[in-house]
Amino acid sequence: MTMAQIGATPRGGVCRLALTDEDREARDLFVRWAQDAGCAVEIDQIGNIFIRRAGRDPALPPVMTGSHLDSQPTGGKFDGVYGVLAGLEVIRTLNDHHYVTQHPIEVVVWTNEEGSRFAPSMVASGVFAGEFSLEYGLSRTAIDGTTLGRELDRIGYAGERPCGGQPVHSYFEAHIEQGPLLEAQDCVIGVVQGIQGQRWFDCTVQGVESHAGTTPLPHRRDALLGACRVVQAVREAAASQAPSGRGTVGQFIVHPNSRNVIPGRVAFTIDLRHPEDGPLVMMVEAVRETMDRVCAEMDLTGDMHEIWYQPPTSFDRSCIDTVSHAASALGLSSMPIISGAGHDAKYLAQICPTGMIFIPCKDGISHNEIEDASQEDVEAGCNVLLHAMLARAGA
Ligand code: GLV
Ligand code: MN
Ligand code: MN
Repeated sequence: MTMAQIGATPRGGVCRLALTDEDREARDLFVRWAQDAGCAVEIDQIGNIFIRRAGRDPALPPVMTGSHLDSQPTGGKFDGVYGVLAGLEVIRTLNDHHYVTQHPIEVVVWTNEEGSRFAPSMVASGVFAGEFSLEYGLSRTAIDGTTLGRELDRIGYAGERPCGGQPVHSYFEAHIEQGPLLEAQDCVIGVVQGIQGQRWFDCTVQGVESHAGTTPLPHRRDALLGACRVVQAVREAAASQAPSGRGTVGQFIVHPNSRNVIPGRVAFTIDLRHPEDGPLVMMVEAVRETMDRVCAEMDLTGDMHEIWYQPPTSFDRSCIDTVSHAASALGLSSMPIISGAGHDAKYLAQICPTGMIFIPCKDGISHNEIEDASQEDVEAGCNVLLHAMLARAGA
């Protein structure tokens, strides 16, 4: 709740876009808390923050957890922050009990998980895992033209530590579910099996600006009307792969955005998701067909450029079992679940055994200022995280 005061919005949420002053303030507070807990703090070249609690053997790779402190423009108090602070609480608890693990414990704040200010999502855990180059990560550009690298420098979080190349023993991430499934089953812990696939596109539809009062309907080349037909196709493509298909147009920029000018150009994004690759590809093809057909019919030019592909991910069997055993040892109800949202755990899964722990959120609502989770569930997830990490870190 203290962290949620940074970037607090009037409706009870958080606006802490990646690498803004609010993000810097949240990072500073986290670093202060980490130092108070006796941790060593390191920042890497893309601004990921690593805090470390030493283990018995410094040569061993860390058992790692983490998530993100950045938020959506109308984000909630829990998305990301929960996983970061759950990790800190694990360290504080071990401190309270003077418990020494064999492996070091690390908690990481991953830069720009949301992908709202700088696309794509999870870019910094992606660099850490070797999916993207550092140059690619630093050159991601916001809508106002500034780059991720420039903003990192500005807020003082461009660190020295090389990004990636460090072995990780195993990675766990605690997160709110961000959907309704756990609540519907009255279940406290989601044992996450993997993350659904995701494809992101930058699109434009180009027409011709002209006068709203004088241009007869047959003469119009209305980019907005064409783009709206593509938006409808996105929804229909997702529905054609029910119940798992997801399709969203979340960003829409109309040019010149004047009430008496027929729009000449529209730029927009498409986010398509499905747990399986085959249906995901079919969704993409269906939207592309509509884009081509609509543009041909309406004398427009369309472009649908894929900027990000995140294949469906399965987590490591032994980490899944570790989470499941921790939940049952603590007497908590649990169920297997596939993540609908993207998480940094996706990229960590490419380099080390990885698992995730979900807790319910109120009415399944997230990416919304009213996002909420109960104190009991927050504590339960944190306990599962503690025991899962201990099982891997060794006494
Ligand atoms: C990350 O928040 C996502 O879009 O899944
Ligand atoms: Mn998140
Ligand atoms: Mn999010």
